[in-house]
Amino acid sequence: MAAEQGLSLVDLDEDGVDTKFRADVLQGLSEPQKAIPARWFYDDAGSQLFEDITQLPEYYPTRAETEILTDRCAEFRELIGTRRAVVEFGSGSSVKTPLLLGCIDPAAYVPLDISGDFLRASAEALSTQFPGLPVYPVEADFMRRVELPSEVATLPKLGFFPGSTIGNMVARTAVDLLRTMRATLGESSQLLIGMDLIKDPAVLKAAYDDAQGVTAAFNLNLAERINRELGGTIPVDALRHVARWNDDYARIEMHLEAIRPIAFEVSGRRFTMAAGETIHTENSHKFSRRSSNTLLLAGGWTPRRRWLDSAERFSLILADATVPRSAP
Ligand code: AVJ
Repeated sequence: MAAEQGLSLVDLDEDGVDTKFRADVLQGLSEPQKAIPARWFYDDAGSQLFEDITQLPEYYPTRAETEILTDRCAEFRELIGTRRAVVEFGSGSSVKTPLLLGCIDPAAYVPLDISGDFLRASAEALSTQFPGLPVYPVEADFMRRVELPSEVATLPKLGFFPGSTIGNMVARTAVDLLRTMRATLGESSQLLIGMDLIKDPAVLKAAYDDAQGVTAAFNLNLAERINRELGGTIPVDALRHVARWNDDYARIEMHLEAIRPIAFEVSGRRFTMAAGETIHTENSHKFSRRSSNTLLLAGGWTPRRRWLDSAERFSLILADATVPRSAP
């Protein structure tokens, strides 16, 4: 296995720069609507800023999902049952994962993450909290089908994908991921997935443009990261954080908008932005009961149960791997 050989899934060039980061940035800045994939937010500074976001008064999703996980423990245990292997897509958060594991008494925990460092840290924390629980961390890109450890081969699986991270993907990518998850988890598996709900655009906008400016710092950190890691000369003070509700696509979009005409270099290539031009940095799709059902069904999952927090801001959905049939 790559992790055991000390190999990393991340390719570094001769300057120690992630080659995929450089390629995504250069490609994205060359397109008519400049755009950079949201996954590049999460360097050490960005991961810390996201942790800070989850504590903000305006950012309800983390608290709402944690409330559901706390209040519905007995129902999870009844519908999911004990002794499953829990496969988490992304290494576990310090709060949510223990809540689930404590409820359903799983036979094993398998965190999947592309970053070996995050993976080892969270696996260690979990092992300390659940001393009897076998933990099998797998360093893998979960956007592709993952070969699970042989130790869990015969166990029924529960996939866990909290946080509404699925909302960062456009429909086509989200469906690809759901189908890939089904292939990774196998027949008769279940999926417990968080999906944020459509609500008053003012509430959504505030969650992505908080008064303290933490989300602005999170968004601007991407430009700073480009300057740090890719020899960029982006004048960060000429960029402004923008969060806008796109009603046609039911999503919050984050952009970095130039407040004046600017020119800069990244990895020796020159780019310009007119005043008002933006770099699109994130989509955060929001769902209705029907749109979440449609997305899950398209991805090969049959929704079984859906829970909301008491203020009805966020949903956590339990779905079963759809059994193929030949007619409606
Ligand atoms: C981690 C993807 C769920 O979309 O709400 C928070 C990231 N971006 N504030 C989200 C995020 C701006 C977050 N997810």
